[in-house]
Amino acid sequence: MEPKLVTVPEALPEKVYSSEKVGISKATHDAHLGLWKGYANKTNEIRKLLHEVDVDPTKANQVYSQMRALKVNYAFAYGGFINHKVYFETLGGEGGTATGDVHALITEAYGNFDHWVADWKSTGMAGRGWVFLGYDHEEQKVHTYIGDSQDTFPTWNHTLLLAMDVYEHAYYLDFQTARMKYIEAYMQCIDWDAVNAKLPK
Ligand SMILES: [Fe+2]
Repeated sequence: MEPKLVTVPEALPEKVYSSEKVGISKATHDAHLGLWKGYANKTNEIRKLLHEVDVDPTKANQVYSQMRALKVNYAFAYGGFINHKVYFETLGGEGGTATGDVHALITEAYGNFDHWVADWKSTGMAGRGWVFLGYDHEEQKVHTYIGDSQDTFPTWNHTLLLAMDVYEHAYYLDFQTARMKYIEAYMQCIDWDAVNAKLPK
């Protein structure tokens, strides 16, 4: 059976570029799209190699082996694909206060929306690469996670609802090292309808 491959759209949805009004430029998004495509290409490359890899357990090794290299880097590559997919799908809205069921879940988990905003901004300054809003199927609650890398720290059994990229490539061109300015601009562009659409039915 041939491995299923992932794809990235040739161009970003037009709505994403509405972020230019708050300072996140088209140039940033277009360069960023190239990085997303890179994660998709590596995901597909590793899927093909995993399809062909020798699964003889005597050849696997925790220090170095082909199996280890492929499995470890697969999580990074596919994580990068998924994280960017959610990032771009949930950009291009009016931002501000969350709407719908996501608003209810946030206020249930964080007391009120302003508290969640502070938590999200703080998490964004504390993380090295990502901030994730995940829906925990175990407890039917949302939770904000740090992702230092494409594949770090979120726990199992979640649906990823919102992903804010805080790697410097997401903002350096527009804000230099002023990450908080980027975070505040980003929060004016969240598409809460798209976030709600990711909730389990
Ligand atoms: Fe990125």
